[in-house]
Amino acid sequence: MARKKLVILTGAGISAESGIKTFRDSDGLWEEYRIEDVATPEAWERNPELVQEFYNERRRQLYKAEPNAGHRAIAEAERWIDVEVITQNVDNLHERAGSTHVLHLHGLLTQARSSRNPDLIYDIEGTELKMGELAEDGTQLRPHIVWFGEAVPNLEPAAALTRKADYFAVVGSSLNVYPAAGLIAYTREDIPLFLVDPKPVSAPVRRHIEYIQEPASTGVPKLLERIKALENGK
Ligand code: APR
Repeated sequence: MARKKLVILTGAGISAESGIKTFRDSDGLWEEYRIEDVATPEAWERNPELVQEFYNERRRQLYKAEPNAGHRAIAEAERWIDVEVITQNVDNLHERAGSTHVLHLHGLLTQARSSRNPDLIYDIEGTELKMGELAEDGTQLRPHIVWFGEAVPNLEPAAALTRKADYFAVVGSSLNVYPAAGLIAYTREDIPLFLVDPKPVSAPVRRHIEYIQEPASTGVPKLLERIKALENGK
């Protein structure tokens, strides 16, 4: 029998227990910084040093962080179901936990790109990206991050994966940011939908959603048990 496909959309919450701050919780990053100062193309035009330092700090924190039980459970599920992770996160904790299919919607902290050409992408050695470091086209290297106001190039592939899902789950996202939050609308109508988050989150879809109101470390294993039970016809 063909294996079923589980598509999991993750957000900052899945990395919270690894010590990486979320954006919109009360101690979140957007309480400390203004989006307009560090995460828009205009911020980069105005004060690139500040933007570089913001992401250098994110990278330093990421180097100290380890995947948690939530990331690991998702990676281990590949043994019995086809798992596609679509993540809004710019950390690489899914990959480090062992997930082999991870699509990043908002870029990746460990990479830099040309300021002109979004397809000229490089791995960053270490944590610091500095002013004066150039891409092959002679432009300043910037973080490979999709900023507010920029297009999301991986949206189409993510929507295509979502259409193929037999099970769809959201883990650790407030579902505030579009177009990522709208992906759930691409699911086929008859499939089970799940949401794992310690806080109540409302999803932009008029369908039954099974809520697992727990942190990722315990909620993801429960989610997978639930899907296993459905697979076994329970
Ligand atoms: N386990 C699971 N979820 C958690 C945990 C945890 N341990 N701790 C917090 N959460 C939940 C919060 O309750 C919240 O619903 O994670 C969610 C985090 O929401 P946001 O901070 O808004 O993060 P996210 O949805 O990923 O943000 C989307 O916004 O700023 C941009 O580009 C950035 O990709 C990001 C996007």
